Amino acid sequence: MTQQTNKLRSVVKGVGAALPRRCVTNRELEKTVDTSDEWIVQRTGITQRYIADKDETTSSLGAAAARLAMARAGCGPEDIDLIICATSTPDLTFPSVATMIQAELGIHGGVAFDLQAVCAGFVFAVATADKFLTSGSHRRALVIGSETFSRIMDWNDRTTCVLFGDGAGALVLEAQSGRGSNADRGVLTTKLRSDGRHRSKLFVDGGPSTTQTAGFLRMEGKEVFRFAVGHVTDVMTDAFAEAGLTAEELDWFVPHQANQRIIDASAQKLGIAPQKVVKTVQWHGNTSAASIPLALNAAFEDGRIKPGDLVMIEAIGGGFTWGAALIRW
Ligand code: UT7
Repeated sequence: MTQQTNKLRSVVKGVGAALPRRCVTNRELEKTVDTSDEWIVQRTGITQRYIADKDETTSSLGAAAARLAMARAGCGPEDIDLIICATSTPDLTFPSVATMIQAELGIHGGVAFDLQAVCAGFVFAVATADKFLTSGSHRRALVIGSETFSRIMDWNDRTTCVLFGDGAGALVLEAQSGRGSNADRGVLTTKLRSDGRHRSKLFVDGGPSTTQTAGFLRMEGKEVFRFAVGHVTDVMTDAFAEAGLTAEELDWFVPHQANQRIIDASAQKLGIAPQKVVKTVQWHGNTSAASIPLALNAAFEDGRIKPGDLVMIEAIGGGFTWGAALIRW
């Protein structure tokens, strides 16, 4: 990457996360679903997930995660001028979850909107916020991934209902000027892709314009698995190439947490050492757009991710949509 002076970067100032009160183990699911702890652990690595109660919503979980990220960033409501919430499970069809969180946190300036790229939503939201911040139009962004996928589960479909969970995570990103070198903190590069031909492999069978219901998630798991392992590494390879960095220089790989086997296969394909891979799928299940910020928060809280570390985030979701971002933490 060529060096420039006074190049704006989107620097991580704070991270936060929130989970519903209720934790549901595989053993507990065995009582109501024709499944077993052994099957779920062997095929996915998941041992438990959190399920939101009626009073816990995508906006309330997102607001809690955002509040923690702001506190860690030392930010007040007046400091935030951009809120992007990645979600596919909004409280209502509209207004956006982002504007609900804005009101809840007492933020009255700037702009707030939702972004929908399913499980890749958080990577898309980081990339979008980065474009706002590095253009100079906005100074400090809340980037949130929040989901209540339990609400769009068909609890009679054991091939999907054991996989997903609820939760939220958030980052505060701040525009800071630097030299534009790879040593400067901030988002170094982002790569996004989509291919709508894969619609039938992962979708929700309802919506305002068709059924007037929220619908249920439907997935051809094997096909998604194959695509995730076979194709999604392209955005990571492109991100490394553009930044002039290699997988060996990475400190932490924080992928979307859908399945331990997908995570391991992707890391192996890219030559990323297993000890650099952050995994939280065992605790949270697949929380869609919330999975990456939940994992970032876990690795921040246990002291693994530190300022200056090189972090790769990556995800694939319905559409298909997929993307990666390289961040100097
Ligand atoms: O975040 C968005 C992206 N989503 C993903 O990344 C998910 C990608 N896909 C996957 O993670 C995996 O494909 C699954 C975990 C969904 C499934 O694993 P699999 O190894 O592909 O299993 P399968 O679908 O081939 O099912 C194998 C067997 C079947 O039985 P038969 O036909 O072999 O007798 C299923 O009926 O496992 C059975 N099965 C179950 N058994 C117990 C499916 N679901 C369950 C279950 N409990 N919950």
